[in-house]
Amino acid sequence: MSNGTFIVIDGIDGTGKSTQVRLLAEWIAAQGRQVIVSREPTDGPWGKQLRESAASGRLAPAEELEYFLNDRRQHVDELIAPALALGKVVILDRYYFSTMAYQGARGFDPAEIRRLNEAFAPLPDLLLILDLEVADAHLRIGARGDTANAFEQLENLQRCRQIFLSLQHEPFVRVIPSTGTIDEVAARLQHAVRSAGL
Ligand code: TYD
Repeated sequence: MSNGTFIVIDGIDGTGKSTQVRLLAEWIAAQGRQVIVSREPTDGPWGKQLRESAASGRLAPAEELEYFLNDRRQHVDELIAPALALGKVVILDRYYFSTMAYQGARGFDPAEIRRLNEAFAPLPDLLLILDLEVADAHLRIGARGDTANAFEQLENLQRCRQIFLSLQHEPFVRVIPSTGTIDEVAARLQHAVRSAGL
């Protein structure tokens, strides 16, 4: 389908994904490659409604799942697939593994969520799961001045973490401890990308 490189960084809230996505993108761009960074939920119409719902009260489970799927379909069609077709490096902050984890924690079968997504969403070349004990992740959310929203309650994050970790033996997955300094974590991610030959 493509000759680009598709890298996803995922994991529970508070593991530092956004910072690490930025640093990894800078590192790859410094190699003279064209990098596109994006995130889910997106800033498109479905993603906007999902972000609003995190603050104002979540949608009903089935509706929420449908919105995430609609948002992703649009993301794949309008951004991910075209960029990969042009040979670019695409780095995403969250992808359908978040749907498996978060909507899975809400009661849907993660395997079924995966099947629904893989019907239209390309598999990444590399999925980097940033991992942290839930208590530590929660502390970091507190430290950055956010209060944990409805997606981010402790018990819920525990379930999400377990679903993320259930992917660890897949050939395209690396679990990266998010402990230590920002630079230490960035170095682990770079090592994982290099050793995947990407
Ligand atoms: P997040 O990346 O944390 O956005 P922000 O940086 O604006 O806080 O994503 C918002 C929430 O969306 C996050 O708590 C996880 C949730 N989420 C799902 O429940 N399912 C999904 O498929 C995705 C992509 C995100």
